[in-house]
Amino acid sequence: MSNVYQIAIDGPSGSGKSTLAKGAAAKLGIMYLDTGAMYRTCGVCALKTGIEPKDEDAVKKMLETMDLKIKFEDGIQHMILNGEDVTGQIRTPEVSRAASDISSLPFVRTAMVDMQRKIAADQSFVVDGRDIGSVVLPNAKYKFFLTASPEARAKRRFLELEQKGTPQPLDEVLKDIIWRDKQDSERAASPLIKVDDAVEIDTSDIGIEETLEVLLSYIKE
Ligand code: DC
Repeated sequence: MSNVYQIAIDGPSGSGKSTLAKGAAAKLGIMYLDTGAMYRTCGVCALKTGIEPKDEDAVKKMLETMDLKIKFEDGIQHMILNGEDVTGQIRTPEVSRAASDISSLPFVRTAMVDMQRKIAADQSFVVDGRDIGSVVLPNAKYKFFLTASPEARAKRRFLELEQKGTPQPLDEVLKDIIWRDKQDSERAASPLIKVDDAVEIDTSDIGIEETLEVLLSYIKE
């Protein structure tokens, strides 16, 4: 199907990926897949079942019985874990850390990447994550890599958490971001990297509307 295309958006946490991916998908009338939500749901599963996210054997066993499904309702992604909609539970700082730990396990990545490729195969999708342009969809028609200073990203996350009614001190948010950056870029399995054919956009000093305009200017559909 020649009219099916994918847009890969990678970048560190807080770089604006998901807002931008959502905006681009809406503008282009295509679907949006948030792959971080999948690793977060694995993290929720580990926390719910009392499994240490770094314990390979325990996580392997967990994956064998874990029933993870993604449901799209009116374009909105819902994460269903063992029959329960856990979408509202995946954005806590505790889950962020568990997701980062669990996503460094290669067999977890293999399982998630397999699902991601199947989902994005027959329909046009904007997919965001850390390894989309490099591993999941190396043949994506468009690839973007978002960057922003840790301080700019921490400030965004800080405001987001405040708006959600779950505030965290700014210095803790920044510490968390720096810790996750290090772990996500230094892990052996599919670390966060910018591939040569990705367009890099630094979002430190530009707002989301402007970033979206820049991104859309590359899309010829
Ligand atoms: O994008 P996010 O913050 O929701 O991602 C949660 C964690 O999952 C993050 O620590 C990195 C990891 N992740 C990954 O390793 N690969 C992806 N494609 C997406 C997320």
